[in-house]
Amino acid sequence: MVRAVFPPRNGIMSDDIRPIPQPGMLDIAVYLPGKSGAAGSNAVKLSANESPLGASPKAIAAFRAAAEHLEIYLESRSRVLRTALAEMHGVDAERIVCGDGSDDLLHLIAQCYLGEGDKAVMNRYSFSVHPIITKAAGASIVMVADVDALLVAVTGKTKIIWLANPNNPTGTYLSDAEVRRLHAGLRPDILLAIDSAYAEYVTTTDYSVGLDLVAKTNNVVMMRIFSKMGLAAARLGWLVGSPELVDVLNRIRGPLNINLLDQLAVTAEARDTEFIAKLKTNNVQ
Ligand SMILES: Cc1ncc(COP(=O)(O)O)c(C=O)c1O
Repeated sequence: MVRAVFPPRNGIMSDDIRPIPQPGMLDIAVYLPGKSGAAGSNAVKLSANESPLGASPKAIAAFRAAAEHLEIYLESRSRVLRTALAEMHGVDAERIVCGDGSDDLLHLIAQCYLGEGDKAVMNRYSFSVHPIITKAAGASIVMVADVDALLVAVTGKTKIIWLANPNNPTGTYLSDAEVRRLHAGLRPDILLAIDSAYAEYVTTTDYSVGLDLVAKTNNVVMMRIFSKMGLAAARLGWLVGSPELVDVLNRIRGPLNINLLDQLAVTAEARDTEFIAKLKTNNVQ
């Protein structure tokens, strides 16, 4: 017979005692991903805007080649990938952090900059991960209608503005001038988190991904992904932020958060400007 190691506490049998999640965890609604077609269906899946042209053939070749070295631990700061992204986008590689999808980065930012009693502000009809990570960090979310309302909603407790630009699911965007107006109205201790996941879909010239603001300020971070450019299954997000933000995120980031296959596949695609241009043209059509 197996005997209980600990006696019942206050008459409660050990079977009734459970680990209790942090306050607020059970108030978080589960994320609903875009619908997938029924098994065996020929439906073309457009609900999450995956690439209709697949991934870059160079990315697929790099992924296969990387599979030859599965036994080796990888370098922990995604150096090869950050170098490629830095070159392609004209930014300092030291100011880039890569994540296992941008969800990974969003969670890191929320965990590092939000806590009990803090508030984050976002547009009402926007990416549903932003409220999830805010609440998971113990903070509360304020949802408003537009830029002016975002500014009005800011209080002494506000720590982050989540700005999906272009916005998902509305497909609308804020011009560079509007984003600058928003930033100019914020206290310098509020982080403006620009989520540019859908940047490749924009064709207008008054849009900016936000890199200029990141370069010139200390309180802006910009995130991008490869999911809409043929690599949704690879899960790769990247951000550019201030040296201080990068330092903080790197302290708690999973040390090997991007596996080698994804790193090399995404690096190959990031350098395949011909494929990216073809996909963008196709999306517009
Ligand atoms: C605004 C926005 N941010 C981030 C993401 C996350 O993308 P992923 O989970 O593919 O990294 C998405 C996905 O659709 C999005 O629409």
